[in-house]
Order: sequence, then structure tokens, then C-alpha cells
Amino acid sequence: MPTPDHRRLAARSLAVITGHQDPGGGYPAAPDYPVYGFSWLRDGSFIAEAASRAGAPGSATAFHTWCARAVTERAERVRRVVAARRAGERPAEGDFLPTRYTLDGQDPDVAGWGEFQTDGYGTWLWALTAHLERHRLDPAPYRSAVTLTVDYLAATWDLPCNDWWEESDEERHGSTLGAIHGGLAAAARAGLAEPAAVTPVLTALGHLVARHGTHEGRLTKWLGGEAVDASLLACLTPFSLTDPYGPLATRTVAAVERQLLEPGGGVHRYRGDVFYGGGQWPVLAGLLGWHHARTGRTAAARRQLDWIAAQATGDGLLPEQAPGARLLHPEHLARWVEEWGPNATPLLWSHAMYLILADALDIRP
Ligand code: BGC
Repeated sequence: MPTPDHRRLAARSLAVITGHQDPGGGYPAAPDYPVYGFSWLRDGSFIAEAASRAGAPGSATAFHTWCARAVTERAERVRRVVAARRAGERPAEGDFLPTRYTLDGQDPDVAGWGEFQTDGYGTWLWALTAHLERHRLDPAPYRSAVTLTVDYLAATWDLPCNDWWEESDEERHGSTLGAIHGGLAAAARAGLAEPAAVTPVLTALGHLVARHGTHEGRLTKWLGGEAVDASLLACLTPFSLTDPYGPLATRTVAAVERQLLEPGGGVHRYRGDVFYGGGQWPVLAGLLGWHHARTGRTAAARRQLDWIAAQATGDGLLPEQAPGARLLHPEHLARWVEEWGPNATPLLWSHAMYLILADALDIRP
């Protein structure tokens, strides 16, 4: 494999992100893919983190401002969710906050696509806090949105919901709990959230994962299960649900590498994944590499960075799944291509994880 020009691809990645950002602040997940024109909190928070690190802090601020407005406009919904949970009831479906928004901040009108996913709100708190601290920005404009988000997560964190992949809404997922932990802990540490609102949740969440979210000393895709999912890497880096050097982290990384990492680089989501046949995701290679970079495994981190770069089109665009990847379930590829066309390219989240990993390895645009 020729040595990739990482500075050039980093510059291209930043241009893709800022170039596609809506003037209102939202980031479309993939501007050219039929159903990815929305701005997801999960994707967007990592995209904003990349922009914040890579020299476009104004882009990140615009995204966070847009998120804060979206949340404060839904304050009544948050209050109803909190009140329902206090009364021991399940909140009305329409009161849960959306997982994706139209670029002008409305709830999307997508039938049959589960909106109740809490990880994005945890990830948003984490990315916002990191951005404010990195650039020493005034948190005041975000306080009411943060308070509402903390209240929302404190009321919903232990409910089953869709996972990072918008699947399995009857389960409680390790990576969702990791994101909630990461967001609440970051906001509390930065003085943005009241410890009294956050500490009991962090304690209960930690106990729940320790009791039901591990198998053979590693984290599991969902509570009470045994499967591995590469999104669990986020519980280590960046969300620090567990000591990144400790045995739980080490065994989780080892299981992901054994079950989901391809020898040449690139990481599958989980063994049963049939979406576009279940290929390898640059986003997940970025997550694995980021954890390696953080824990001093620089060569392993660099391998994932090189692998991601090798997935770019001639025009420097990164896809959702690697082209020509080894598929876990190749018999499922055709139906996705027939229904939706080739997989999403560019995917802004892929560019974001590439930029974050590059930054962790001291490579900047
Ligand atoms: C993925 C989600 C992602 C969304 C937008 C879905 O296919 O499963 O994780 O947020 O695409 O990129």
C-alpha cells in the first residue's frame, strides 16, 4: 500500500465537513444518500469534535448552537418525559426527543425508523464540553439546553432503546450506556451540570453495566447478552466508562479485534450485521485507532489511519462502508443496493473519525 498523503486527506475531510454544513449549523449525515439528509446527534457530535480539533472551531460552535436551540425548543416534551417517569409511567412515544433532525431543526417525518435513541444526547454533552474546554468558550449560552439534556438522560437512561445502528430497540446497549456516562460525567466535571443530578445516574449506570453488561470479563453489545459490537470501543475511548488500561478495556478490545477486525485493517459492526452485507466501517477503524493512540499503541493506530485513507475515492471522499470489503453476509448486499443505491459517500462521520484519529496522531490539515 503506498504511503497515504494524510495531511492532504485531512484537509479534504475538513473541507467536506464544513462545505456540507447547513448555514443553520446542522451537518447532513451524507448529502448524496437518499435518507441521510438529516442531522443526527450521534454523527454530528463526532463531526463537531473533528471540526473543533482540526481548525474549524466556528463550525463546531454553529453545530452546538443549533443543537442547543433544538433541545430548548422541546423543553415541554422533556418536562413531560420527566413527569411520566416520576409517575412510574412510560412517556408518550411522541415526547421522546428525536435521534435526527431536519436541517432546519424539525422532527423528521420518517415512518418506521425508530426515533428513540439516547446515545446521541450523551455524545452531544461530551462533544460540547470538550469543545468549550478546548477553546475556552463561555458555556452560558448552552446552560439551559444542557440542563434539559441532563434531565432527559436522567429520566431515560435505563429504558431500552435503539442502539448506535438504530436496531434492537427492546435491548439496553453497552455503547448507549457508555455515551450517556461520557456525556454526563463530562458535563459534571466541567461544572455544566449539577453533581446532584448526575452522580446517582453515573453510580447506578456503572453498577448496571458491571452486573449485566459484561461476559467473560469484557463488555457486551447489550445487557444480559454475550455478543460483541465494535461500538463498545467508545465506552473506552472517548467515554471512559472504564479504565482504558484496565482488564475490562483490554478484554473488550481483544474481543473486537478477534471477532470484527480484518487482518488488513477495517472493522465490522457485529457478526450478525447484514446491512449492505456487513462490511467494514471507516468510523469503527477510527474508533479503534483512537483508542490505540490514546493507550500508546501508536503503530496499531497508524495502521487504522492508513486503512481508512485507502478507502477514499480518487476525489478524497470516504464512504460509510469500505468498497470491496470482505462481507460477513454477502448474500444481503444486492437488496440494499437495489433499494437505496451504493452505500453513502461521502459520509461526514467517516471523515470526522479520520480527522480525530489523525489529530490523535499529531497529523493536522
Ligand atoms: C447508522 C447510524 C448512523 C446513520 C447516519 C445508519 O446507517 O446505523 O449509526 O447514525 O446511518 O449516518
